[in-house]
Amino acid sequence: MRLKEICVLGGSGFVGSAVVAKLDAAGYAVKVVTRRRDTAKHLLLLPNVQVVECNVLDQQALSATLKGVDAVINLIGILHQSRRLSFNAVHHQLPAKLVKICADLDITRLLHMSSLCAEQNAPSQYLQSKALGEAALLALQDKVNITIFKPSIIFGRGDAFINLFASLVKHLPVVILAKPDAKFQPIWVEDVASCFVKSLDNIDTYSKTYELVGPKVYSFRELIKQVMKTLNIQRPMIGLSDKLSYMQAFMMELLPIKLMSRDNVRSMEVDSVSANPFPEIFGVIPTALEAVIPEYLVDETPRGAYDRFRRYAAR
Ligand SMILES: NC(=O)c1ccc[n+]([C@@H]2O[C@H](COP(=O)([O-])OP(=O)(O)OC[C@H]3O[C@@H](n4cnc5c(N)ncnc54)[C@H](OP(=O)(O)O)[C@@H]3O)[C@@H](O)[C@H]2O)c1
Repeated sequence: MRLKEICVLGGSGFVGSAVVAKLDAAGYAVKVVTRRRDTAKHLLLLPNVQVVECNVLDQQALSATLKGVDAVINLIGILHQSRRLSFNAVHHQLPAKLVKICADLDITRLLHMSSLCAEQNAPSQYLQSKALGEAALLALQDKVNITIFKPSIIFGRGDAFINLFASLVKHLPVVILAKPDAKFQPIWVEDVASCFVKSLDNIDTYSKTYELVGPKVYSFRELIKQVMKTLNIQRPMIGLSDKLSYMQAFMMELLPIKLMSRDNVRSMEVDSVSANPFPEIFGVIPTALEAVIPEYLVDETPRGAYDRFRRYAAR
């Protein structure tokens, strides 16, 4: 019998790589769609995975790529918009086109990644565009069985958030923090990936939206303290007022590498936490951040161990 074929858009990314590995292990045939095959080469060794190049913003190309698959998982997202690419194009127009293509091709299953706190009246364009994407999908839920996931920040090996701050803690004498009291409820990438895979064939998850959060709420300041504790590095931390947070983000927008934007700061105006318990239907007990981040933040190479011993010895 032919393996059920699942197409993963954004399968090369941080969350995508975890989802694809679990789909492969569960015996699905996985088609990873990427703009550049090179970015997905780490997935090529998985036995049931094929990687195909496609410009997903081109409706015809996307339609040709999706033809014949049984289900689609959409993980495509951006944290910073540019002159060439807007949040609206990626988070709203793309899901709108995608669900229409699914309906036209008779692909009846679609899982989609949104974000916790995505609301059409949210303070940031990122969150607004994610909400518009959700609405566009749900408009066709009579034709396609849709499940939407809304996680808080996601941590795990290769994450952008915890690794970025670990790097700042390692290399800067002082940590200057925008929105130090903003709240997060971080969730482990493997737990998120499990929910996607378990949802795929579970009809009870059709037409449902799930918030995914970890077991503990942290302020931004507490998160950075946890990173420092894990690395065994202490740095003074300066929390910025709202006004200075926006000024810092504005200056960062001028840098060639995008670390933080004013829109990111606006996203932190709402706490990324949930009042709802973790959805029982997936049988996942969410893993604590403290149990996981030492595995990927602490450098276990001989050089890393040597540096650690020197720090312990204060030399
Ligand atoms: N990480 C978090 O903390 C977090 C929290 C809440 C929600 N989310 C959402 O989860 C999803 C995955 O996040 P992630 O952290 O795994 O992000 P990621 O590592 O940056 O991966 C994003 C993926 O999107 C694809 N992509 C980006 N821009 C694209 C474009 N212009 N056209 C086509 N494809 C594009 C990339 O594929 P190629 O480069 O291979 O083409 C990449 O595989 C996103 O929707 C994000 O908004 C993430």
